[in-house]
Order: sequence, then structure tokens, then C-alpha cells
Amino acid sequence: MKKIIKYLAIMLLTAGALFGADKETGHLLIYAGLMEDYAIKATKEFEKQTGIKTEFVRMSSGETLARVRAEKDNMTASVWYGGPVDAFVAANEEGLLEPYVSPEAVNIPDNFKDKSGIWTGIYVGYLGFVGNKKLLKEIGVEMPQSWADLLNPKLKGELVTAHPGSSGTAYTMLATIIQLKGEKDGLEYMKQLHGQIRQYTKSGTAPGTMVGMGETAVGITFLHDAIKYRKEGYEDIIISAPSEGTGFEIGGVAILKNGPDQAAAKKFVDWVLTAKTQEIGQTVGSYQFLTNKDANNPPEGKEIEKAKLIEYDFQWAGKSRKELLDKFSAATNAEIPTK
Ligand code: F6P
Repeated sequence: MKKIIKYLAIMLLTAGALFGADKETGHLLIYAGLMEDYAIKATKEFEKQTGIKTEFVRMSSGETLARVRAEKDNMTASVWYGGPVDAFVAANEEGLLEPYVSPEAVNIPDNFKDKSGIWTGIYVGYLGFVGNKKLLKEIGVEMPQSWADLLNPKLKGELVTAHPGSSGTAYTMLATIIQLKGEKDGLEYMKQLHGQIRQYTKSGTAPGTMVGMGETAVGITFLHDAIKYRKEGYEDIIISAPSEGTGFEIGGVAILKNGPDQAAAKKFVDWVLTAKTQEIGQTVGSYQFLTNKDANNPPEGKEIEKAKLIEYDFQWAGKSRKELLDKFSAATNAEIPTK
């Protein structure tokens, strides 16, 4: 009897491996860092094409990192989809990611992927400023064109940024400033900037809507998000990129270690790396530059393609995350917002 049970178990396991049992029964949970409307469209389309039931939770980068850290021994999601890769690098330092070199990664240039498959880039976004031209006129200030301009006393209490502890956008800002100015001057700058800030938001996209609605004059954000909000009707939005140079994100995708349905997770990663899937973003107002060499970039990107970029070091930024956040907190006392 024992022998028969053992034989049956081996048969079942072999069949599972051969036919990808988890693919058929797969239920995929994804932690998404990109815009909600983009995540909805992508997951629905994937579900339609593969039959794999796919759900997502949208979180900012710092939130996702905290969640996967907490779930380390009982990972409930399988894929981390979108958000700057600095946090992926930090997660990998803690053993939270499963390397996977997708066959589709051949179409992604080397500078947009980790060569051992820890993460693979799906888009690129530039950091910059979003302003409300009406409000700026009212307070008599030109749209800031440099990091130095943000310290204009007339902008005191008029600036909004996300908090680098919760938001990948704001962490990109912090790491950009340190790379531009060095640690000592960079932290001193963050301290002075803190004096200008009206509010720290949880997500990096919130400053764009606050500026669009006229709640505040200037925000620090990814420029593609500001373009989205302007196109969606916030007509007073104007944008600029800092003249000293600005940082950028590579938005990544990665498989979570020990997450369920690893076969389905791989399938999802293969799928999001294709040119066709990457082009879904622009149909719902996500205008990042795309990493697949065959993908068509959104024409909306033309407006910002001449921004002066720094040589952003993602490995350094990811590995220094905890240290930099501690130093930022010590310099500013800014607390991570709950919403
Ligand atoms: O478009 C949404 C987006 O700006 C992405 O480009 C980026 O990866 C992500 O949001 C960052 O979000 P957060 O700053 O909230 O972590």
C-alpha cells in the first residue's frame, strides 16, 4: 500500500513539473508600484491571455519593501511589478527576491537590467518639478528651474514632495541630491528644503494632483506623472527639470522569493517585458520611456527627453537605502506619512 502511495505521489509530482500544474490552477498576486489604472489594464489583459487569475495591490516602493520583509517566511504575492529598482536592490540585499533571467530580457539593453536576473527594467522615468502656473503668478514666483530655486524664500510652505521612506520617487530625489552634492552638502540641502515643505505625502504621485488642484504651488515628482495629470485636465500644470541635473528611475519587475505560483510568476515577467505589454502604459496615461528595444515610446516623452540626467548609481542607491533614510530622518525629523 505504502509503495502504491509513494508511486502515485511521484507520478503527480512529475506530471506537475511537466505540465506546469500551478500554471493551470495559478492565482497570481502582484505588488504593483506603477499607476493603478496601468496595473488594472495590465493584469486584466494578462488574465485574459493566459487564464491565470491575477490580482494586484498598489503600493509605494517603501511600503512594498516593508510588506515583503514582513512576509519573508510566508510570502503571499509572487511578483513585484513597477517602482524604482533601488528598492529592489535593497530587497535583494535581504534575500527577498528570486533571480530570474527571462528569455524576453534579450530585448532589454544591459543598462536596464540586472545581469543575474534579480530585477529587469520595464520603464524609465525622469525626476523633476511640477508647478501650478496660476498659483505661481499669484505668489509672484517664476517656475523653479533648479534645485537651488526650490529654496527661494517665497516658496516657503509651497512645496510638496513624498517622503523618501515610503515613496520610490522621493527616494530617487534623496539619492539624486546626495549624488549631485556629496553626503554632507546633500544632507544640508535636504535640511533647508525641509524648511520649505508644506507636506510630505506617502506616494510619489500625490504632489502632482495637489499642484494640479491648486492646493500648493510646486511639487517634486516624476515628470511623466505630471504630464498625465495635465492631460487629464489639470490645465494649470507646468513642468521643468533641474538645470544642475536630475535623477531618474528604472522601474523594474522581479519575482518574490518563496511566493506562490512561481511558474505563473515567470510567465507574468516574460509577458511584461514584451514590447506590446510595455506599450499598454501609454494607453492609460503612463508616459515613461520603455526599455524593450522594439517598443514605441509615448510621444508625450518628447517634452522631457532633453532633461539633463546625472549618472544615477542604482546599486549604490539601493545598498545605501537604510543608511540614507536614517540620515535624512536625523537631518529633517520628517515622519513617514500614513496617507
Ligand atoms: O507612474 C507611477 C510612478 O511614478 C512610477 O513611474 C514609479 O515607479 C512609481 O510611481 C513610484 O511611486 P512611489 O513614489 O509612490 O513609490
